Amino acid sequence: MPSPIRLRLVLTLLLAATTGPGHLAAQQQAPIAPAQDWAHAMALPTVEDTNPDPKVLEINLTARVGQVEISPGRSIEAWTYNGGIPGPLIRLKVGDRLVVHFRNELPMASTVHWHGLQVPIQMDGVPGASQPEVPTGGTFTYDFVVPDAGLFWYHPHVMSAAQVGYGLYGALLVDDPAEGFSIPDEHVLVLSDIDVTDKGTLEDPETGGSAGMAFGREGNVLLVNGRNHPRVSVPTGVPQRWRVVNTAKSRYFELDGGKGTRFTKIGGDGGLQEYSESLDYLVLAPGERADVFYVPNGAPGTEYGVIARLFDRGYGSTEARQNEALFTLVMDGTPAPAPVALPTVTRAIAPVAQAGATQVAMEFGIAQTSDTKAFIYTINGKPLAEIPALPATVGETQIWTVNNTTPWSHPLHLHGFFFQVLDKNGQPKRPMQWKDTVSIPYKDSLKLIVKFDDRPGAWMYHCHILDHAEGGLMSSVLLSRPGEAPPPLPSEHAHGHDAPQTK
Ligand code: C2O
Ligand code: CU
Repeated sequence: MPSPIRLRLVLTLLLAATTGPGHLAAQQQAPIAPAQDWAHAMALPTVEDTNPDPKVLEINLTARVGQVEISPGRSIEAWTYNGGIPGPLIRLKVGDRLVVHFRNELPMASTVHWHGLQVPIQMDGVPGASQPEVPTGGTFTYDFVVPDAGLFWYHPHVMSAAQVGYGLYGALLVDDPAEGFSIPDEHVLVLSDIDVTDKGTLEDPETGGSAGMAFGREGNVLLVNGRNHPRVSVPTGVPQRWRVVNTAKSRYFELDGGKGTRFTKIGGDGGLQEYSESLDYLVLAPGERADVFYVPNGAPGTEYGVIARLFDRGYGSTEARQNEALFTLVMDGTPAPAPVALPTVTRAIAPVAQAGATQVAMEFGIAQTSDTKAFIYTINGKPLAEIPALPATVGETQIWTVNNTTPWSHPLHLHGFFFQVLDKNGQPKRPMQWKDTVSIPYKDSLKLIVKFDDRPGAWMYHCHILDHAEGGLMSSVLLSRPGEAPPPLPSEHAHGHDAPQTK
């Protein structure tokens, strides 16, 4: 086993090198962006619907390398969908059909995975289990009905740590017309970071070697909707609804709304939750989403930052990094209206029945290889190439007890199915909600319950710190119908890492 002290030392040096004072000083010299309204300062790219049927959204999505402007006058290299980071906001209604003509113009194979959407395995974007990789110059058409309302997102599933880290991600918002309440100021916030050199080129995704992998490499430039430190002008005292997704490859976000504001959280990964919660801070692990009400609070003409706080996912609070304003809210000149009560939002969610459930024990560990002493992650003591897939039968319910023995937290994501989190006593955690990604805190454990419906296939589960997935925290549920042969495995299993297939 690696010595935690040595690991910490290596990582402290690594962090100091990538996010130390030198880098922060460079950022502080950037010119201050003027405040603009939300539609300008924070707009997400849109995409043309080529299908006249109102129940069908048909779009073209091309992955290509480009230059993106992340703040006035500052452009960096990135990998993009349709030329921007994030990719276009895909927005439709629950039950609509989405058709995506994907074209790969990257110098590397890719796919598109629809994170959180309960789609058939053929549409899940996983090489080997769903489809072949889409080579450079290749195309693939994704075509499915969106079954659930909520905020979801899309990203590649080939060399994911590199490709997501380079900028390939976008939000997918599924509206529920029967929701029954409305906050006119509704905004989607895509949180991420990107690792760039002083020259504005993309940093090597392997920096820091296996210690960098063990930590999970974070970007050195914070982004919200593809902008670094934007300044948004808002009316004070007017409630807003924020739909937030963390698409960063490693970074946890802990948002402080600033100025004594609080977040009223009404939903998470899989739509609305049982009842709302009032939160000081909003924590989102990589891959997670939140649906919150937020009320800007300040005298007309004043401003304050919405802060990305240091969240302790295992590195303690003594490392070389600090809280940073993700964006600045500038109160426009209008006086605050008389406060109105926020809508009361509830949703009846039935607990997944536990009778007859299969108990599954899963342990996340960290080890060093005997030859090179490189850090690797393990599941149940096994390195990536030896982790057996987890069998499941259509209709089966499983309760996973995930024990994290490592000094890092891990956001566990299951493809294709929602689950519910259980408390230490095995009761549903309140407020109840449907999730597809949940953080397993370091040196702690967590239980979840999932019922597998009739969509046989190899459904991946992995840590959404994408370096960790590639370092060993990745496997699949092999879901088959009774009496039928198990489905084919994702090619990641055969290759031992999330690499393109070589023919
Ligand atoms: Cu967003 Cu395999 O995941
Ligand atoms: Cu992890």
